[in-house]
Amino acid sequence: MEERSSYLKFFRVVVLFLLGLRTSSAFCVVGSTDEQPLSKIAMHKVTLGLRESVTIRASPVVLGLQGEDTEWVTVNIVNPDPSEDDWVAVFSPANFNASTCSPVNDEDQTPYLCSSPIKYKYANSSRTYTKTGKASLKFQLINQRADFSFALFSGGLSNPKLVAESNFISFANPKAPLYPRLAQGKSWNEMTVTWTSGYSIDEAVPFVEWGKGETQTQSPAGTLTIDQNSMCGSPARTVGWRDPGFIHTSFLINLWPNSVYTYRIGHVLSNGSYVWSKSYSFKSSPYPGQDSLQRVIVFGDMGKAERDGSNEYSDYQPGALNTTDQLIKDLKNIDIVFHIGDLSYANGYISQWDQFTSQVEPIASTVPYMVASGNHERDWPNSGSFYENMDSGGECGVLAETMFYFPAENRAKFWYSTDYGMFHFCIADSEHDWREGTEQYKFIEHCLASADRRKQPWLIFAAHRVLGYSSNSWYAQEGSFEEPMGRESLQKLWQKYRVDIAFYGHVHNYERTCPIYQNQCVNSDKSHYSGTVKGTIHVVVGGGGSHLSEFTTAIPNWSIYRDYDWGFVKLTAFNRSSLLFEYKKSRDGKVHDSFTISREYKDVLACVHDSCEPTTLAS
Ligand SMILES: [Fe+2]
Repeated sequence: MEERSSYLKFFRVVVLFLLGLRTSSAFCVVGSTDEQPLSKIAMHKVTLGLRESVTIRASPVVLGLQGEDTEWVTVNIVNPDPSEDDWVAVFSPANFNASTCSPVNDEDQTPYLCSSPIKYKYANSSRTYTKTGKASLKFQLINQRADFSFALFSGGLSNPKLVAESNFISFANPKAPLYPRLAQGKSWNEMTVTWTSGYSIDEAVPFVEWGKGETQTQSPAGTLTIDQNSMCGSPARTVGWRDPGFIHTSFLINLWPNSVYTYRIGHVLSNGSYVWSKSYSFKSSPYPGQDSLQRVIVFGDMGKAERDGSNEYSDYQPGALNTTDQLIKDLKNIDIVFHIGDLSYANGYISQWDQFTSQVEPIASTVPYMVASGNHERDWPNSGSFYENMDSGGECGVLAETMFYFPAENRAKFWYSTDYGMFHFCIADSEHDWREGTEQYKFIEHCLASADRRKQPWLIFAAHRVLGYSSNSWYAQEGSFEEPMGRESLQKLWQKYRVDIAFYGHVHNYERTCPIYQNQCVNSDKSHYSGTVKGTIHVVVGGGGSHLSEFTTAIPNWSIYRDYDWGFVKLTAFNRSSLLFEYKKSRDGKVHDSFTISREYKDVLACVHDSCEPTTLAS
């Protein structure tokens, strides 16, 4: 009987882990490159085989002595019995064995390792390793509020056997405030700064010191934390869990339009001393309707990648660093960024959120980084998401809603509007129902109706999944060329309110349609649009970084331009009557598709099919 119960316990553990590893989405699980690399490690199978003859040492022991938040570390291995499937895991906190965590519930056994490494590399990436048994590997570490250690495993990722453990190394101040990200607040003259630290509110008071020129003020910050019990399932609740630290947000208010502000983050410790971040600056947003040069970036599905080549066999988001680097290169010519869902692809491996916020820090600390929610942020069975799949790896939206600020009424319902000068943005949440009669539908209509087109001519809709049009092969196979039920309710709103452009991610490629209404192109132009707004241009820009999605071979007549590559869109509003749209590839930063719109206010007012209320002949 006892044997049977321990067998059952083992079975439960295996099922639990397998559940945590499975994801299911038409675009997210098709081949081996689509898995979150950390999920490939068979954590439940780890065995112990520590050998004294094997050594692994990491140096330097203290990182960030000059205040750096990113450092290169050398890991030296000596192993008299090397094999090509030996691999090195980076653990943080450094003490990674199961004694540091408790079972998931009373009936589950705790495996020897209860937390996933934050990344890994094969030992033979140091070329002579299999011949000499000696390897010297370079890892780039970011400050993640805890110490680090390295472990050598044999048996590949599927039968890991722990062979050696390294010394512990640490950043000089592991709690330092890091990775500031800006976002527009609820009104045009408010900028929010969100950052991560290791300081609880009992230990230190968080604030932002900021100002224009010499005059500096200090604004307090609110603090949020996330605990393991707020995760919906595995791996976020089990092997993927890692304390995400304290997330602080400060609201900088009463900003002057288009002005440069400097800021730095501070914490006052209980002994009265201060801990400061680096200094940053941003340009405040224009007044709604303000006529000035305004440049907007839009992309989806970027994810993260490791600059040290870790997790190299996975190639999970091969374009992520190219996109990041192109945006950093052009940052002086960018005013605001929209990352429309599938942000980090942490998929329940919480450590990856720090690595993502670190990757985008140069962008997000300088211009507002506005996010939308995707399946990889939100979806989880029986958690209220519109889709019942497991793409969030158990995060069920909690990480995205906390790590990033966005001006939603309720951050668990990830829809919001935001103004940027001559643009009005309506950001929808495709992971919650958007159809007629829902709370979100009401919001979308209200948001679209709120744009005063004389002042804000450029009306933009965005959502993660393709609610409009895409000739991605899966959507084509379904016969819908859209997310099922995508545009049925919404197209009358886009038409009634003359939405200029609707953006989507989820499908990892680029595609632009003609101005379209009910499957029909309403304008035969391809590169320049002028006059009456007869339909909305739909753009898939999901090639931010993740593995690419195939198109169908037959090209629908509404599809003007398709590109199977990584890239992003840049919109430039020169004034109220002239807009430039450019699609740039991430690999070269060059423009590969573009069009312009020029028009007058009367062109937006003009009635077209299904766009106007009835009129009367009375005069
Ligand atoms: Fe997606």
